[in-house]
Amino acid sequence: RIVYVNGEYLPEEEAKVSIFDRGFLMADAVYEVCSVLDGKLLEFEGHIARLHRSLSELKMAEPCSDEELLEIHRELVKRNEVKEGGVYLQVTRGASDRDFVWAKDLKPTLVLFTQAKSIEHSPTATTGIKVIAIEDQRWARRDIKTVQLLFPSLAKMEAKAQGKDDAWLVEDGFVTEGTSNNAWIVTKDGTIVTRDLSTDLLHGITRASVMKYAKEAQMKVEERKFTIEEAQNAAEAFFTSASAFVTPVVEIDGATLGDGTPGPVARRLREIYLAESR
Ligand code: PDD
Repeated sequence: RIVYVNGEYLPEEEAKVSIFDRGFLMADAVYEVCSVLDGKLLEFEGHIARLHRSLSELKMAEPCSDEELLEIHRELVKRNEVKEGGVYLQVTRGASDRDFVWAKDLKPTLVLFTQAKSIEHSPTATTGIKVIAIEDQRWARRDIKTVQLLFPSLAKMEAKAQGKDDAWLVEDGFVTEGTSNNAWIVTKDGTIVTRDLSTDLLHGITRASVMKYAKEAQMKVEERKFTIEEAQNAAEAFFTSASAFVTPVVEIDGATLGDGTPGPVARRLREIYLAESR
């Protein structure tokens, strides 16, 4: 695989980042994942807009212009002949001797690589997934897409250890989001519900698009908090993310939803999302 690091395209074995990089030492870094379908980037503008926001919230320098970022994405997709999968981008504050206080003139580290994988016809799109509930123990600025992914990894490992697929994180009795996705339910009267935006959760790019398409299709959408109990008694549930689009959830913390197969609203939203965004 050819990867990009600080201005150079290199075979992955030759790409290097300093051991003093603050991304490595302090998780002082932000990231984005942009999906690729039919060799084309999905929702690039949305991901780049969120990258700017993450950088500015952390007072981190912009690594380069948007035009250059688009060019690097396209070049990597081309060089690696990616038809389907994603492009991972990470910006760190840069490298300097280990210190909690950083120098203002650090040069940001920019790394991008591609991951080829089947995402449109992933098996979970037809089977749905099973989630467990876990207390959300992440830091309080989940609206910033940082690389502090230890707690989400632990939560997902716990789900796997229990024979399930993922965890929905719960704070003060309400679902914040999934480990790497936004959580949704469909009430018995057909209303689509997802948590309102705040610093408690990531402002998903897929979430925003799905909400727009649902409203355009005259579906009723509510942005509000919901509990695991409400989700367990809902007609349907699903999650959204760049790499999984709309994926049905068929079991929540031991309770099977409906007949345990993906519901019609989730299936329809997935179809609409794929048709509109590609
Ligand atoms: N995850 N919430 C969290 C905590 C996430 O990490 C993600 C994305 C989302 C969905 O956001 P979007 O629709 O913009 O992808 C919500 C990415 C895909 C990842 O970590 O791989």
